[in-house]
Amino acid sequence: MEYMFNWKNDINKNELDKVINVIKNDGLVIIPTETVYGIAANALSDEACTKIFIAKGRAQDNPLIVHVSDKNMIKRLVKNINEIEEKLIDTFMPGPFTLILEKKDCISDVASAMGDTIGIRMPSNKIIREVIKESNIPLAAPSANISGRPSGTCIDDIIEELKDRVDVIIDGGKCNIGIESTVVKVINNVPTILRPGYITEEDIKKAVGKVEISKNLFKKVNKNEKVESPGMKYRHYAPKTKCILVEKNINQIENIKKILKEYPNACIIGFKEDENTFRNNKYINIGKKEDLREIAKNIFTALRKVDKLKVDVAIIEGVEKEGLGLSIMNRLVRACENNIIS
Ligand code: TXA
Ligand code: MG
Repeated sequence: MEYMFNWKNDINKNELDKVINVIKNDGLVIIPTETVYGIAANALSDEACTKIFIAKGRAQDNPLIVHVSDKNMIKRLVKNINEIEEKLIDTFMPGPFTLILEKKDCISDVASAMGDTIGIRMPSNKIIREVIKESNIPLAAPSANISGRPSGTCIDDIIEELKDRVDVIIDGGKCNIGIESTVVKVINNVPTILRPGYITEEDIKKAVGKVEISKNLFKKVNKNEKVESPGMKYRHYAPKTKCILVEKNINQIENIKKILKEYPNACIIGFKEDENTFRNNKYINIGKKEDLREIAKNIFTALRKVDKLKVDVAIIEGVEKEGLGLSIMNRLVRACENNIIS
């Protein structure tokens, strides 16, 4: 790492020039967005995008999301935008929303993993927006984590993991949302959710009247299978410690107690309300049961704490698979590699 900048309070103009220089020279920048931190580089440069894949140890068939500052930049990067796509852009951008569109040749083939499409996202976070706007360069940026690990939502969580793999780190404080963007592709005129995120199924239905959810979200996909969103094939969001997800139902607490009998040296990732019930165990509080926004914000930091606790397993309290809860459960199911108690 060459530079570490603290922009929690405001963006420093001199440092901004340095960041832009690094990007123009095909370097890598860890940068905040409202969802999770990204590892960003020039989306128009094969060399820069190749560095992202190497830094993350990412599978080459898994394309990157390209971040833009405004609608004109989208038009520079993609071919046809139909009426439904236009409506989705106008409703959800800027914000935690990624739309898969047909790419123009200017976007690096490395970024699109040699495919014809590219995910476009216009973040609302002002740090990344300013860097894109001032450099006038669209930024390819996957989540800031080594592939397979939980996404990074604050610098403290990722600095050790990534500091030797990038040129600049920008600290913008803890991410507001904490869970990644919703990835959508319009297929046969129907917006289809390829990865659930902060924007929910209901939000999309309200905006354009229809929505579908990809069938692969909660199933284990074979590595050689062809799926709409390649990222869903890979083990993800997982601590090194074994994790067990306990689904939300009337037996949730009893089920946790049963697992504790089998694994006395466990930690629990659970709701604030249940902390007292498990006061004799290591406990990571992720927020109140009903406060899904708070839980989304804390989930990756909680998963990253597990390995430090030196326990045999982490037992995780699940939420209902509705609204934002569906996105949280999608991450948890994958962190637990389908070890689920219902
Ligand atoms: O909130 C976010 O989206 C964060 C921040 C940094 O913007 N980015 C992020 O990127 O989560 P990443 O690379 O970790 O996840 C991108 C997901 C993967 O599951 C990938 O397979 C899918 O989006 N994806 C990207 N481009 C795609 C494409 N052209 N077609 C289908 N799926 C695509
Ligand atoms: Mg990721």
